[in-house]
Amino acid sequence: RPRSPSGFDTVPLEFFQDYPEPGVNFIDVGCVFDNPTHWQLAIDALTERTAHLDVDFLLAMDARGFMLAGALAYQRGIGFAMARKPGKLPGAAIGIDYRREYGSATIEIQPERIKGQRVLIVDDVLATGGTIEAAATLLRRIGKDVVGAAALFDVAFFKDQRNLTMPVVTLRDV
Ligand code: PRP
Ligand code: MG
Repeated sequence: RPRSPSGFDTVPLEFFQDYPEPGVNFIDVGCVFDNPTHWQLAIDALTERTAHLDVDFLLAMDARGFMLAGALAYQRGIGFAMARKPGKLPGAAIGIDYRREYGSATIEIQPERIKGQRVLIVDDVLATGGTIEAAATLLRRIGKDVVGAAALFDVAFFKDQRNLTMPVVTLRDV
């Protein structure tokens, strides 16, 4: 199949107005997963655009970050761990509460599962940056280097309000 680093730019996207609350135009990332060509273009673009980052492990954000990180880890030949909503991880998990686009949230990681030192955080959408910053705080707490974060979509509305502490790669503004 033809590989095209910029092919993802023209993939048609599906939005839902007033979801999950009035005033929000919600990008439904499922529209990238349900078409094999669009999915391949997304993973090709994510792989290419993060190729310059010297990372040896990925942290996948619950829930849609799981698919993206899984594919990217496979492409790079490195491992990944899941950052999950509270109560889902066995053993010695550590967590953090944070604020994000809609209200507050909590994520947890298992320190023992982070088998690399130089970590890239992977999620589907970057909005306020609250989610990836919370993940970065947890990773730093256990002594890891947060090399960056990557997401398919960047909610442009929030760009000005972010205080990001790591380089971020996003593929498309929405
Ligand atoms: C969405 C999205 C990102 C986060 C981005 O997840 O998937 O993880 O919000 O927002 P932020 O930059 O303001 O933190 P959500 O918490 O809605 O849950 P889900 O991924 O489990 O559906
Ligand atoms: Mg999410």
